[in-house]
Amino acid sequence: MYSFNLSTIIIGLKRSNMELMITIRDLVKRFGTIVAVNHLNMDVYKGEIYALLGPNGAGKTTTVRMIMGLLKPTSGKIIVDDIDVIKHPNIVKKKVGYMPQFFSLYSDLTVFENLDFYGRIYGLQREVRLKRIRELLKIVELTKYKDVLAGNLSGGLKRRLGLIATLIHDPKLIILDEPTAGVDPPLRRAFWKLFLRLRDEGKTILVTTHYMDEAENADRIGLISQGKLKAVGSPREIKRMVYGGDLMRLIVSNGHSSFNSKDIHLDDNDKIIDVIRVRRLGDSKTELILVVKDFGSTLPSISSALQRRGISILLAEPLPITLEDAFIALTTGEMPCLKN
Ligand SMILES: Nc1ncnc2c1ncn2[C@@H]1O[C@H](COP(=O)(O)OP(=O)(O)OP(=O)(O)O)[C@@H](O)[C@H]1O
Ligand SMILES: [Mg+2]
Repeated sequence: MYSFNLSTIIIGLKRSNMELMITIRDLVKRFGTIVAVNHLNMDVYKGEIYALLGPNGAGKTTTVRMIMGLLKPTSGKIIVDDIDVIKHPNIVKKKVGYMPQFFSLYSDLTVFENLDFYGRIYGLQREVRLKRIRELLKIVELTKYKDVLAGNLSGGLKRRLGLIATLIHDPKLIILDEPTAGVDPPLRRAFWKLFLRLRDEGKTILVTTHYMDEAENADRIGLISQGKLKAVGSPREIKRMVYGGDLMRLIVSNGHSSFNSKDIHLDDNDKIIDVIRVRRLGDSKTELILVVKDFGSTLPSISSALQRRGISILLAEPLPITLEDAFIALTTGEMPCLKN
């Protein structure tokens, strides 16, 4: 069986020519005896959506606050857009659009006044502010609430306002700490549509979440657990890390004799990485679960190898690994339950 290394697995060397927006090296944060961030190494490339995915207490907020220069690391290095955050925390704060996990709005100011206030903080001229506020209100469909006091908005509307307040100065790096916590599914989807649009416009987005389904929308995911990155890659790459390839389930006829594992011997044998299960289903059929390099390109080779032995494929399907399966496997070593 394929065994994986529980230390960080990094895929994505193809991105080595891409420029880095955030570089974190050997970052540690201790609160007394609690080690919230434990020798973390992490890279976020310009123009990507990077989801930091992890359970409660994994160290996401602590990491993000150190990136923002709001919290001093115990040790380690953080570079944001070529600036050393530990030496120059204030420069970074101005460059980034940061939405904290518990974003505070002024409840006795209207939606418009809140946005105007944040625009002033970033030194935007009146004309620029008004134009920007108009655009942002429209994007998140808040225009008709512009004169409502922020304190009277529903939870979802407050999140929308918080998000656009973060974007008021058109930052090229956007850091969002659980922007969709407590947000209903249609609004979560709308938020992600906006994130993808901002990414397509060239922004870099670092977003923390513990929602597996939404992390699937990210370009890359960093799985964080107990202050350490356990795996980094695209959603597909992360799922493939569990077994080291795609899972393929086949039901085959037994042919002349009972099925023998030599029957799936391929000329180009490295396409089959592992055989997870061979199980007789009655007298005439056998179920196989294989780990293959790539489902689509391996199936024809397996089919012809079997046919040469008089065995035909009755069913071939990819076995999906969910991000949740992958998260559990890569953080605890517990392998997913396979279909019976
Ligand atoms: N100021 C603090 N003092 C003491 N312990 C802290 C402090 N801030 C965070 N911690 C601890 O550090 C660990 C990481 O917390 P952090 O808030 O970074 O996790 P998180 O991944 O953001 O969790 P959540 O998903 O719940 O927001 C936790 O054990 C937390 O209790
Ligand atoms: Mg948090």
